[in-house]
Amino acid sequence: MQPRHVAMIMDGNGRWAEAQGLPRTRGHVEGAEAVRRVVRRARQRGVQWLTLFAFSSQNWGRPSDEVGDLMQLLVDFLRDERQEMLDNGIRLTAIGEREFLPLPVREALASTEAATAHCTDMRLVLAVSYDGRRDMVRAVKRLTQLASQGLLLPADVSERQIMSALSTADMPDVDLLVRTSGELRLSGFLPLEACYAELYFADKLWPEFTGEDLDAAMATYTARQRRFGLTGAQVAAAPA
Ligand code: FPP
Repeated sequence: MQPRHVAMIMDGNGRWAEAQGLPRTRGHVEGAEAVRRVVRRARQRGVQWLTLFAFSSQNWGRPSDEVGDLMQLLVDFLRDERQEMLDNGIRLTAIGEREFLPLPVREALASTEAATAHCTDMRLVLAVSYDGRRDMVRAVKRLTQLASQGLLLPADVSERQIMSALSTADMPDVDLLVRTSGELRLSGFLPLEACYAELYFADKLWPEFTGEDLDAAMATYTARQRRFGLTGAQVAAAPA
C-alpha cells in the first residue's frame, strides 16, 4: 500500500549553505526548490495529503533577518506556485498560529487557500508557526470552552473529539513521516496525528532531496508491515 498522508520535516537548509560557504538564506532558497520538486513528485505519485513543516513556533527565535527571509520565501512560493497548483488540482491549506505571521504571509495564505479551495486531487498543507504542543493547548481551550457552556460532558470526551479540536481536524492520520539531514527527532511535528506513522530518516540535507528520494521513502513504507498492535499473522490474514 502506498501512503495516503506523507509529512515532512525539511531539515538541513542552513548546514547545506554553510558547507558551501554561502549565507544560510541561500539554503532556504534551495530548500524552496526542493519543496517544488517534492510537491510535483508527490502529486505524480498520487499522494493525497502532503504536510510540510515550513516554520516552527520555535523558529521565531532565529535571527530576525533569517525569519524575514523565510517569510518572504513563503510569499514568493505561494505566488509562484499558484498556477501550478491550480493546473494540478492541488488544494493548499495551512496549520499553525497564523495570527503571529506578518500580514503579507497571512494574505498570501488566505488568497491561495481561497483560489485552490475547489481542488480535490491533492492537499498540500503548510505548517507555519506550528508546534504540536501549542496546538494541543488550543484544542484543550476549545474543549473547556464547550464544557463551560454545558455543551461537553466529561463522559462525552473521546479520542475523536480531541482530534477534531486540533488544527488538523480535517486531516487523516500521517502514514509516513520523513525527516532529512540525518537528525533523528520529531521536533513537535504532528505528535498526535503521527503517533502511528512510519518514520523515515534520510541522511541528505533538504536542499539535496529529490523526487527519487521521495520514491525511496515511499518504497520503504510500502515494504513495511503496519500492525497497529496486532500480530503479523493477523495482519497478513486480514482482507486488504
Ligand atoms: C530547517 O532547516 C528548515 C527550516 C527552518 C525552514 C524550511 C523552509 C524551507 C524548506 C523553504 C521555504 C518553505 C516553503 C514551503 C517554500 P535549518 O535551516 O534548520 O537547517 P540546519 O539545521 O542545517 O540549520
